[in-house]
Amino acid sequence: MRVVFLGAPGVGKGTQADRIAAQYQVAKISTGDLLREAVRSQTTLGLEAKNYMDQGKLVPDAVVIGLVKEKLAHPSCANGFVLDGFPRTVLQAEELGKALASKTMTLDRVVNFQVSREDVVRRLSGRRSCPKCQATFHVDFAKPMVEGICDRCGEPLVQRNDDRRDAIETRLKVYDEQTAPLVRYYDDRRLLSPMDASGTVDVVFQHLSKVLSPYRVT
Ligand code: AP5
Repeated sequence: MRVVFLGAPGVGKGTQADRIAAQYQVAKISTGDLLREAVRSQTTLGLEAKNYMDQGKLVPDAVVIGLVKEKLAHPSCANGFVLDGFPRTVLQAEELGKALASKTMTLDRVVNFQVSREDVVRRLSGRRSCPKCQATFHVDFAKPMVEGICDRCGEPLVQRNDDRRDAIETRLKVYDEQTAPLVRYYDDRRLLSPMDASGTVDVVFQHLSKVLSPYRVT
């Protein structure tokens, strides 16, 4: 299974990528998670990425393309992968195509998650994340058992810097300008599957499982 999850910030790509990766035993490659890890570790790359991320802007293509190529070469991708948040520009999509072609691979599917703008803003502004294990919660839709505490590892939950309202606005604008053209790009290549992601996490997961079932590892 080699799939891309495409969609605006907050549509639920990461939530579903976690579930699909666990269910089908494939790797989840989230450029957002990789970049946040680099920021936490204060690597050179992380220090460069932080300003872009806090403002809701895209990190330069060369940085994320390098990160993803490194991950794709890892043995954990042998069963396949879900790419969450990559590609986000046409250049990134072209480079992904070339990297896969060099391994005589192609993408199976690109799932385009769709939710109204109103719901996206609600999902993002209510999101709380665990800074230690990266688990994601929501103050209304996915409450932790103890308010403000991660169910998995007991760490206090935080709000991401880029889930502030001004950064959310920038992220949505950046999505419209730089990432939305990928819908056409992948549709032209007959890879796109639209996904109504407005239902509950379980309902979306059921729909997604049906779309991806032809590509499961046997
Ligand atoms: P990234 O982390 O990828 O952010 P994003 O694409 O903006 O996506 P999000 O993580 O915000 O949303 P999501 O769709 O995964 O939703 P989630 O499942 O969490 O990127 C962050 C930054 O890194 C970028 O702004 C950029 O600076 C940089 N970056 C990353 N990739 C890059 C790239 N390729 N190129 C350049 N720069 C890059 O859900 C959101 C909330 O909703 C959660 O609280 C969740 O609990 C809740 N929720 C989920 N599903 C449902 C549901 N069905 N019903 C109700 N609530 C739900």
